[in-house]
Amino acid sequence: MRIASLPDFVELEANLAQRNTLALPAHAALYARITDVGQLVELVNSYAPGDLRFFVLGGGSNLVLSGDVDGLVLHMAICGRELAGEDADAWYVRAGAGENWHDFVQWTLAQGWPGLENLALIPGTVGAAPIQNIGAYGLELAERFHALMAFDMQTGEIVRFDRTACRFGYRDSVFKQQGWHLDGRFVITDVTLRLPKAWAPLTRYADVAAELAARNIATPDARQIGDAVVTVRRRKLPDPAVLPNTGSFFHNPVVAAAAAERLLASHPGLPHYPQPDGRVKLAAGWLIEQAGWKGRDLGPVGMYEKQALVLVNRGGATGADVVALMQAVQHDVVEKFGVELTPEPVFL
Ligand code: EPU
Repeated sequence: MRIASLPDFVELEANLAQRNTLALPAHAALYARITDVGQLVELVNSYAPGDLRFFVLGGGSNLVLSGDVDGLVLHMAICGRELAGEDADAWYVRAGAGENWHDFVQWTLAQGWPGLENLALIPGTVGAAPIQNIGAYGLELAERFHALMAFDMQTGEIVRFDRTACRFGYRDSVFKQQGWHLDGRFVITDVTLRLPKAWAPLTRYADVAAELAARNIATPDARQIGDAVVTVRRRKLPDPAVLPNTGSFFHNPVVAAAAAERLLASHPGLPHYPQPDGRVKLAAGWLIEQAGWKGRDLGPVGMYEKQALVLVNRGGATGADVVALMQAVQHDVVEKFGVELTPEPVFL
């Protein structure tokens, strides 16, 4: 590693404990807060490709740190948000990768541009949102995505990714498929969303519909839906600042139709959602609860009492504690239902 030649904004031995929402202890050998693309250019000019391992950090809200990080952690803090364009059909809204996602959603709603309200209060940054195609309450980012710009740490070029190039799937994108979220090849610098002017409320999701009904709102506007989503999330999902967590810890498993039928025959209460491809998505939270893990701890970590899909750090946990609980839950769910649960966060 040619550390000596690295720019002076690179810190040594940075503490990451406050920079991951599971509050796991870890240090980064090298750490840089990136507020400007120019810093990335400087970095690319100060090392030979392959000399240094990178990891791009956003809000740290979908991350399990197994231990110290040997390499350079790039903490994305590029800010800025603007109306990038407008045509007869849509507003195009752009934000820097380091913007807080929820603040950005609230800002678009305040400007009178609806469309992101179902994704309110999702932790993390704008730049991280496309990587796992964040989703909630009947909407995925992919449905509002227009394009993103990313800096290629191998070539020093800025590359544009449109929706097709991102190859979005359920909590998935080309960045995960290619492992770029781990090797730091592409650093997302800004994201542009397309918010259609022909807005329609998305309130099919039972929890949100019930919250609106409780508020006596029959024809909600986007801000009212956003408020309802915030209330529902606060009720079920722990605030990482109070109880460290990474949101859903596992994907909802998608199984073949025949497998779903077999499971439903013996477990008629299992929540299930048929997918366009004929397969069936199952509720991981329900499987975990039925396997006896809701509100149960293993050492300093546990599965949250109000939402069994959320793994929480009750204090003092390490990455090894998280892995032990993950494996115990996976084991018991396979044993009881024959279904494999895969973790949602990125492991480093
Ligand atoms: N359920 C249980 N027990 C539990 C938790 C859930 O029986 O402990 C049942 C619920 O009663 C419901 C079903 O499972 O019938 C689904 O639960 P919920 O509506 O809470 O949503 P989820 O499938 O657990 C997904 C996303 C969340 C997103 C919500 C709302 C994944 C992995 N998770 O959770 O996303 O907020 O739907 O749309 O897809 C995240 O990805 O980090 C995340 C929080």
